Amino acid sequence: MIVLGSEKVVKIGIVGFGIVGSGVYEVLRTNSDGIAAKTGGIDIKYILDIRDFSDHAESHLFVSDFDTIVNDREVSIIVETMGGLTPAYEYTKKALLSGKSVVTSNKELVATYGDELLQIAADNKCSYLFEASVGGGIPVIRPLNQCLAANKIEAITGILNGSTNYILTQIIKHGQPFEEALKGAQQNGYAESDPTADVEGHDACRKICILTSLVTGKKIDCDKVYTQGITNITLRDVEYAEKLGSVIKLIGMSRVEDNGKITVMVAPMMLSLNNPLSHVESVNNAVMVSGNAIGDAMFYGPGAGKLPTASAVVADVIDIVCGGAGRIMWSKADGEIITPQSEVEFRFFVRVDSGVDKSEITRVFGANEYITVCEDEYGFVTCKMTENMLKQKLSTFVSAGYIRVLD
Ligand code: HSE
Repeated sequence: MIVLGSEKVVKIGIVGFGIVGSGVYEVLRTNSDGIAAKTGGIDIKYILDIRDFSDHAESHLFVSDFDTIVNDREVSIIVETMGGLTPAYEYTKKALLSGKSVVTSNKELVATYGDELLQIAADNKCSYLFEASVGGGIPVIRPLNQCLAANKIEAITGILNGSTNYILTQIIKHGQPFEEALKGAQQNGYAESDPTADVEGHDACRKICILTSLVTGKKIDCDKVYTQGITNITLRDVEYAEKLGSVIKLIGMSRVEDNGKITVMVAPMMLSLNNPLSHVESVNNAVMVSGNAIGDAMFYGPGAGKLPTASAVVADVIDIVCGGAGRIMWSKADGEIITPQSEVEFRFFVRVDSGVDKSEITRVFGANEYITVCEDEYGFVTCKMTENMLKQKLSTFVSAGYIRVLD
């Protein structure tokens, strides 16, 4: 920790000079005066990237061997903006074991090895911080860990992936085809290097797992979380949603149940326009948190992109320098703590063939309103049931698909 006014400049290394890493460089350079006033100064001593940056204005900063950074006793903080597990896991572990704090935007690494890396950081009296791993530029990790620390957090519901929210907004508001909207997300630097992680829901899954692990202290394993992306959403689903006064959003949610189990999942859902999350558009994310003291609180802002994400990374660096980094810790749970998906109930919006008798639908699903957007089918909303129950009941009808309704 640096005592304010002591004028000691802290030296850092940036590991990975892609979208986020170069954003960190830019924020540190652009806002250097303000940051120096807060911290005494943060100096980039190294940038690690295996690509050629010999024509960069500060090409002397670039190195290609991680050991150069980790073995330099002057460097006290490493910014890991490589993404992925390999070699980020190995580098992070090495840095923490040598007593250097690590700041990251790498949600895959935090979700997968956060428990272990946090423990290593604690054992070596340094910090492992990852504000940028969830919600891009939105402050959410620190508020949950510090400002809302007095609460028992009972539920988290959020739009946690900027790319898919951008894609859905482009489709819904501008009638843009999926592929074109995805290209836009990539061009704007929102999407993962492999955008499958975005569109199939894995990125949102990592983020809800990080948030839920943070507030429960128990590691939530991504592999065990029901995850569905947006690739099956059709323009017709969008039309139905509109007619219902709703929108479709990719939602990550978790809830601590009375039996102590945690219900956690990611899926596209229909949201009524009364739900504040329904108005979160484009690359923005929002996280709604229910605490037993505060009630409901919502965090909203840009969920991806170079400078918003870098803003969160640099804030973590500043926190470490100023000694404000709170203690974050979670560990592996004993036994199964996730509610089996087969027990989770929702209302569903269902599309069936127009030949299906409506009185049968009312009898079987308790539906009393039918929505039509075309001649060959109609839609309705069921009463609450599990997905298995829905599938069973639907088996005798010709169905064109269904989507969960977020109540
Ligand atoms: N691909 C991520 C997203 C980047 O679109 O939200 C920010 O984590």
